[in-house]
Amino acid sequence: MVKAEGVRKSFGHVEVLKGIDLEVAAREVLCVIGPSGSGKSTFLRCINHLEKINSGRLWVDDHLVGYRERGGKLHELPDREVSAQRRDIGMVFQRFNLFPHMTALQNVIEAPTRVKRVGKQESRARGQELLERVGLGDRVHAYPNQLSGGQQQRVAIARALAMEPKLMLFDEPTSALDPELVGEVLDVMRGLAADGMTMVVVTHEMGFAREVGDTLVFMDDGAVVEAGDPKVVLTDPQHQRTQAFLSKVL
Ligand SMILES: Nc1ncnc2c1ncn2[C@@H]1O[C@H](COP(=O)(O)OP(=O)(O)O)[C@@H](O)[C@H]1O
Ligand SMILES: [Mg+2]
Repeated sequence: MVKAEGVRKSFGHVEVLKGIDLEVAAREVLCVIGPSGSGKSTFLRCINHLEKINSGRLWVDDHLVGYRERGGKLHELPDREVSAQRRDIGMVFQRFNLFPHMTALQNVIEAPTRVKRVGKQESRARGQELLERVGLGDRVHAYPNQLSGGQQQRVAIARALAMEPKLMLFDEPTSALDPELVGEVLDVMRGLAADGMTMVVVTHEMGFAREVGDTLVFMDDGAVVEAGDPKVVLTDPQHQRTQAFLSKVL
């Protein structure tokens, strides 16, 4: 579902991704850990082309992200086609970014009604269903400021699901939450994984990574240092840098 080959990305003279090679099969969950500034968010943003890569190749579902290859050359896709690609990829951020003037239900159905031109009634029914799936069937008419951080993040997940993505990207989805609210969000993500959603999850929740992740990647300084079975990486890391990082966070 995702394949990265030698992905490099610089901001000005600073190279923040130094040749990332990764693969995520359909229905798999890839968890990414690593110190602040190691390039985790940048890599996620490259996957849905919020950042343009400088070299290498990146595919989602066998389509080159942001480019078309013709005669051995890469041609940038027009904005309309980039938006179409991005629609297949759901993204959930640390900060939920809900529309404050819209109810939970309105937040969830806004994009499908506008972009996919789904009828009002159909999208409301589907929105209700999605909010039930994240455990918020009784809060559909609540505004974001009437919801806890954990509830807002669950609305944000429902909103991403409303576009029926093939792939979900999570960038530290529980890092801004009070500790007692982390579990409810992880439970929703666990459910998604169990339903077969392909997911790339940047997280500091090692328990989640161990239980739910098929693969765990440790990134440092713009590179993948170590990748493998989460249980193995977490209990028997092979690289000194992984060991040093884990000894600080575990
Ligand atoms: N838009 C940007 N412009 C310049 N530098 C950036 C930008 N985005 C990220 N960076 C830099 O890239 C590096 C990696 O950042 P990031 O991907 O956010 O790391 P992480 O998510 O692992 O903490 C950092 O040094 C950060 O300052
Ligand atoms: Mg980040």
